[in-house]
Amino acid sequence: MTIGTENVEAPSFPLQRGCPFAPPEAATAFREEGAPHRVTIWDGSRPWLLTRHDHIQQVLGARGTFSADVTDPGFPNTSAAQPTVEGDIFFRKDGDEHLPIRRILNPDFTAKRSEALRPRIRELTDQLLGELLASKTKPVDLVEAYALALPTVVICEVLGVPYEESPVIHESSKKLVQLGLPTEEKLAAHTAMHENLSRNMERKRSAPDDGLLSRLVNTHVDEKGELDFEDAVRLGALVIGAGHETTANMIGLGVLAFLRDRPQRDLLLSDPEQYAAPAVEELMRYWSMVQTEPRRVCVEDVEVGGVTIRAGEGIICNLPAANRDPEVFTAPEELDITRTERRHMGFGFGIHQCLGQNLSRVEMQEAWPRLFQRIPTLQLAVDESALRFHTEALTYGLEELPVTW
Ligand code: HEM
Repeated sequence: MTIGTENVEAPSFPLQRGCPFAPPEAATAFREEGAPHRVTIWDGSRPWLLTRHDHIQQVLGARGTFSADVTDPGFPNTSAAQPTVEGDIFFRKDGDEHLPIRRILNPDFTAKRSEALRPRIRELTDQLLGELLASKTKPVDLVEAYALALPTVVICEVLGVPYEESPVIHESSKKLVQLGLPTEEKLAAHTAMHENLSRNMERKRSAPDDGLLSRLVNTHVDEKGELDFEDAVRLGALVIGAGHETTANMIGLGVLAFLRDRPQRDLLLSDPEQYAAPAVEELMRYWSMVQTEPRRVCVEDVEVGGVTIRAGEGIICNLPAANRDPEVFTAPEELDITRTERRHMGFGFGIHQCLGQNLSRVEMQEAWPRLFQRIPTLQLAVDESALRFHTEALTYGLEELPVTW
């Protein structure tokens, strides 16, 4: 067994992509070498980068050996502010600080509940496409007009925020994830979002409905006393934050993939009933857009891929490389919506696996076929080389997707 590979070079993380359609070359090279590899992050610390599918499943699937708590010593934080900003959030916790909150949220995101939203998601999709088709100016940025707009309205409806208020949520959450925005603007966006949710939640006390905000305040704050009002508002904001940028990025990236690959797109449109669901799984695998997470810290010494990872050492999982692991996926570089291998980890793995995956799946299953059915001549309005991607953010995605038809 190797006890660490202490003297090897530890490249700076996040790793850079040479090709926008492939994982960073260094991540692929580490996977081919076979063992976890050190990387260097912003504070000079050297967590382990995992790139193989089996190693990541070992870590994310283990109970007790690895911690998701950003306040634990050695956790590979994304910035000095992370432990303060995210230290209290349930998904950055484990055990009793994680599961009870997850159980509170689960009922709104079951497969059945998300499936029940399908007709409404279809209706919204058609409405947005109608507005898009009516727009007088072209090119249109499809990220703004479609990819972001759909999940924003959907998540607002899941929460029970009225449709006409969704632009406030949309604007605020856009600012909250915008890199480089001045702090005052971010704080103002944060305040706007919290005020909106507080106001809505207060209203639900006298006019309950079946949305998540109503259940949080009426059942979990007032009836059971499990949360205080502020906790409930923060949970609502968290669900919005986690639930709309992610899906939006995937919708945009998926559109781009189908624009580049006519045969796959024709196949999807030949029978959306049959191909939409597998297309979502394949595009989740292909893009693996959560690119700088999941992160954990090791709680006790453990062997992963022949390397001993010591208690207190950080771990970063590279989903893009793992989801192209040739030991799990045949011809992993190819986009193939008929692929039957279903073990991608685009939504993570284990106890922290994505809360909103069912909802997100339904949105993507509706968004792609409807778009190409209604606008069959859709095409890029710029050269592919001019497209800009968020390369260093937590989630990979397109800055904008200018299209015409
Ligand atoms: C394509 C869209 C999405 C992708 C790729 C995605 C990806 C992920 C991944 C990889 C994780 C695991 C993180 C970890 O293990 O540290 C995760 C967790 C999570 N996701 Fe998503 N997600 C998406 C959509 C959503 C939506 C729509 C929601 C809305 C509710 C959501 C809410 C969450 C939450 C709350 C967690 C933490 C769960 C926990 O710790 O128990 N996500 N997601």
